[in-house]
Amino acid sequence: MKPTHKTMLEADFLLTNAGRLATVAEHPAPPLEGPLGVLRNGALAARNGRIVWIGAQDEVAQAVNLVADAQRLDAANALVLPGFVDSHTHLVFAGHRAGEFHERLRGATYAELLAQGRGILTTVGATRAASAADLETSARQRMARCLAHGATTLEAKSGYGLNLADELKCLQVIAALRDGPPRLASTCMAAHAIPPEYRADRAAYVRLVCDEILPAARPLADFCDVFCESGAFDAAESRTILERARDLGYKLKLHANQLGHSGGATLAAELNAVSADHLDFITDADRAALRSAGVVATLLPGCAYTLRHAYPDGRRWLDAGLNIALATDLNPGSSYTENMQFVIGLAIPFCGLTVAEALRAATRGGAQALQLDTEIGSLEVGKRCDLTIWDTTDEHEIGYHVGVNLVKRVVVDGAVAL
Ligand code: NIG
Ligand code: FE
Repeated sequence: MKPTHKTMLEADFLLTNAGRLATVAEHPAPPLEGPLGVLRNGALAARNGRIVWIGAQDEVAQAVNLVADAQRLDAANALVLPGFVDSHTHLVFAGHRAGEFHERLRGATYAELLAQGRGILTTVGATRAASAADLETSARQRMARCLAHGATTLEAKSGYGLNLADELKCLQVIAALRDGPPRLASTCMAAHAIPPEYRADRAAYVRLVCDEILPAARPLADFCDVFCESGAFDAAESRTILERARDLGYKLKLHANQLGHSGGATLAAELNAVSADHLDFITDADRAALRSAGVVATLLPGCAYTLRHAYPDGRRWLDAGLNIALATDLNPGSSYTENMQFVIGLAIPFCGLTVAEALRAATRGGAQALQLDTEIGSLEVGKRCDLTIWDTTDEHEIGYHVGVNLVKRVVVDGAVAL
């Protein structure tokens, strides 16, 4: 046995030979390089799922004492990143809508389909008809794909139940999946669309959400989200729901200004939402309001790809000083992808982000959009040990070498998940 020096740290996980270990530290200082705080030839140790040491490869032997059954991973000079935090997914749903995707290519629009009782409502019908067990199986398959492409944390929304029993069914599925990996945050999105049976009385559905669904769902969800959009919930309805949610102790998110100037961005700022997502149609005043309210702006370029809309102008968001996150919006209608590498690949050329900005938005930014940034989103001592080892030595290959999975190994909570 190796002698234990008194300053040595006990660890049960050790990553060695990271050619470039991108810490995504908030204020990187030497020896960390560049905007992503890259440590060259680095190593990292963890204990009980938390990072206890990060340092130079040639200091491992002096700094770290491994417990008997410790896990070791050799990065073989590859790139290492914090796990992606995909802060916006509609993980739980039944069926798919490939038919609508192809109809839209022939001219139908997303809003028209919803107005016809299709779109989101097609998936509501399928999800209501599905058993919790089947929903859990398909969601688990999606989680595995998210993990394989580098996401170690996902947010997961309900929103295809749209009645008390089916919203709770979906949130219970999310609760059952919370053992991960990846780790999950849970959002109640009962205000995703007006269900067909309430079409003639929208106010009654808003009351159902406020009086029954949100109180019953509270133990199962951290966040409440509303689709604030013409064709879904207007700004006044959204405010009623979100204020009720806030009183019940939910943290707030909004699908805001995706298809037009819905007032959602203004509302997100007024209510100090944790994040406002989509934001395809925003003004300078909206950007300023979101910034001063500290709302994280979430870029979802998978929607622009799928719906063939203009891409959101991430460059302007950053230039306006907004804190941004980048997420998949995994759902069967507007963005059917589990792959964070794909949305990074869209955000760089089409939303005007640099590689470093996109990777930061996909890690630390996502953690901020879930208010989990003291725990995850960067590789720093004290944080959870969630990381990915890549099939490249250079982060600039991400978003450039596309359509293939460049993630080789995934670690969640200091345990090798893949
Ligand atoms: O984020 N826009 C509203 N909700 C989802 C789409 C859901 C669906 O089409 O099934 C979104 O784009
Ligand atoms: Fe969404």
